[in-house]
Amino acid sequence: MKSVITYGTFDLLHYGHVRLLERAKALGDRLIVGVTSDSYDKERGKLNVHDSLARRMEAVRATGLADEVIVEEYEGQKIHDIRKYDIDIFAIGSDWVGKFDYLNEYCDVVYLERTKGVSSTELRKKEHELLRIGISGTGRIARRFIPEAHFVSGVEVVGAYNKTLNHAAEFAQEFDLEFATDNFEDFLAQVNTVYIASPHQFHFEQTMMALEAGKHVLCEKPFAMNEQEVHEAYSLAREKGVALVHGIKTAYCPAFEHLVLLAKSGRIGSIVDVDASFTKLEKPGVRELKNNGFGGSMLELSAYPLLAIVKLLGEEPNRQELFSSIKDGVDIFDRGFIEFSEAVGSFKVGLGAKTEGSLVITGTKGYIYVPAPWWKTSYFEMRFEDANATRKYFYSFDGDGLRYELLELVNLVSKGKTESDVLTEAETAFIVKMQNSLEYID
Ligand code: CTP
Repeated sequence: MKSVITYGTFDLLHYGHVRLLERAKALGDRLIVGVTSDSYDKERGKLNVHDSLARRMEAVRATGLADEVIVEEYEGQKIHDIRKYDIDIFAIGSDWVGKFDYLNEYCDVVYLERTKGVSSTELRKKEHELLRIGISGTGRIARRFIPEAHFVSGVEVVGAYNKTLNHAAEFAQEFDLEFATDNFEDFLAQVNTVYIASPHQFHFEQTMMALEAGKHVLCEKPFAMNEQEVHEAYSLAREKGVALVHGIKTAYCPAFEHLVLLAKSGRIGSIVDVDASFTKLEKPGVRELKNNGFGGSMLELSAYPLLAIVKLLGEEPNRQELFSSIKDGVDIFDRGFIEFSEAVGSFKVGLGAKTEGSLVITGTKGYIYVPAPWWKTSYFEMRFEDANATRKYFYSFDGDGLRYELLELVNLVSKGKTESDVLTEAETAFIVKMQNSLEYID
């Protein structure tokens, strides 16, 4: 009996997949199909997969061509599977020619002609209307956003708004955008999605204008200036039936999502403490240090540690306390404590002071340590009393990470949802409330 194995993502199962499976099956007597797990796909940079693993496996099974459907979870698994299932032939589409020659040592490798004119990538693009994105604000983060958007399918950055027309025009020219404007209404009229990367004080106002006009919104942090504004924005998104995403990139990156699930799984017992820090030394005189009500370390940096705290400890603290170093009316460093019924969250943020930027989650059975820069989560360790029990987790945090928050928006739009489960309205309200909890000195 000849056994054949093949692998793939098999997202939105299509005719090309079925033809591949038919020909692979015909090579032998038994066909095993490996379907990539969600985390493995993310790890290898395949970000846009639409169907869940369960659904993709079910679709492969439903073809009636596979004798067995297994999950592919890690690099190097193929050799292991070939031995385990006593495989004679490894078959794969011709888009991979040469890439799997190394498996010839273990079995025959057959490349099958890929079916022309169909792919999951193309089908995914048709899942929702093309997102024509306009960027409000043309500063540093806006510049980083454009290359990141190239990694997300079904989106195109088409225009830029800045209240100074020259700045918008230069930006549009540099990045080859369709248009530039200093009129926000004109701006909205030409797009169906808005990325808000303007100065902090305009975030809420522009979010509301965009939602009111029926546009999907991805808003950078700080999302708003108080809790009330958060609820207003989410209510309006629901009323208009458009997607609203709070742009804290860490929330949507694969490693951080996994870390939160692991920490909550009970492996380190009950969580009693979350301690996170983020400092970034800035030169005096920069926007971030201006005493205009929109500067300072809390507003600029605390979204990240507050994200870790709210994801791990919830959004209902009993009390909180903040100790701040103020210089020229602006907090250059803050140390915060947030007390919950069974746990405490603490953080340090600083634009004018430097410290270790790690995240430690303390549990009754062990702890999770994420080294700096933990907010670009790519590696963490789970440690216990017995040092031999340490587990190490490796991921990739691709590029600047903004692709993850944009991808979340795309996913919401394609599912017709208005709000993310990954970072909810209640969690956003908690973060915004805490971010703005410092009384400024005039
Ligand atoms: N395949 C094929 N013909 C197509 C598309 C895919 O023969 N038109 C084959 C691939 O070569 C691979 C298997 O089907 O052996 C699974 O491919 P997968 O990567 O899941 O499908 P794609 O449509 O190529 O997905 P994507 O667009 O996400 O890369």
